[in-house]
Amino acid sequence: PRLTASAHRPVGIETMGWDALRTAAAGCTACKLCEGRKQVVFGTGSTRAQWLIVGEAPGEQEDLQGEPFVGKSGQLLDSMLRAIGLSRGDADPRQQVYIANTIKCRPPGNRNPQPDELAQCEAFLIRQLALLQPRIILAMGRFAVQSLLRSDEPVGRLRGRVHHYQGVPLIVTYHPAYLLRNPEDKARAWDDLCLAVETAKRAT
Ligand code: URA
Repeated sequence: PRLTASAHRPVGIETMGWDALRTAAAGCTACKLCEGRKQVVFGTGSTRAQWLIVGEAPGEQEDLQGEPFVGKSGQLLDSMLRAIGLSRGDADPRQQVYIANTIKCRPPGNRNPQPDELAQCEAFLIRQLALLQPRIILAMGRFAVQSLLRSDEPVGRLRGRVHHYQGVPLIVTYHPAYLLRNPEDKARAWDDLCLAVETAKRAT
């Protein structure tokens, strides 16, 4: 679809259920990213999951397949999750993750999300969070942190302690794509995952 004067974010997101929300996202034309997307990448995992994992934006593979974290970063994310007994598939809700991105459409050439795109898309993530009511949130990378914590501080300064988003404990960690470029920080990411596991235990 072309972005025209009638481009808009669907109304009533704040009260939608899962199905309506997914449908609304699929037809969203609120920002210019709708022009280049193949698919809207809404989110994946059980809606009963106790963990919410928030990434940045779909890449090429995600745009093609319609599912978050299916490319190289996704492989690393899955192995990190496996290491702490979590899964995006069938499992006990305590071990299940729901994965969503701060923006649902692929930025061209995987460039960083722009402020207007983040602002337009935020309502979807906020509604996903309200519907899911997770016990713990893992915010991966600078854009997830900016969206949820409203902080411009670098990830390295925010990790290592428990933050809160609307009363839900939130742990900040590096984005898997960053870890692929900076493997020396994997040990820190492991510490973050352990902190998240401990925090989730205390929250249940
Ligand atoms: N990186 C992200 O932040 N999200 C994805 O879905 C894939 C890669």
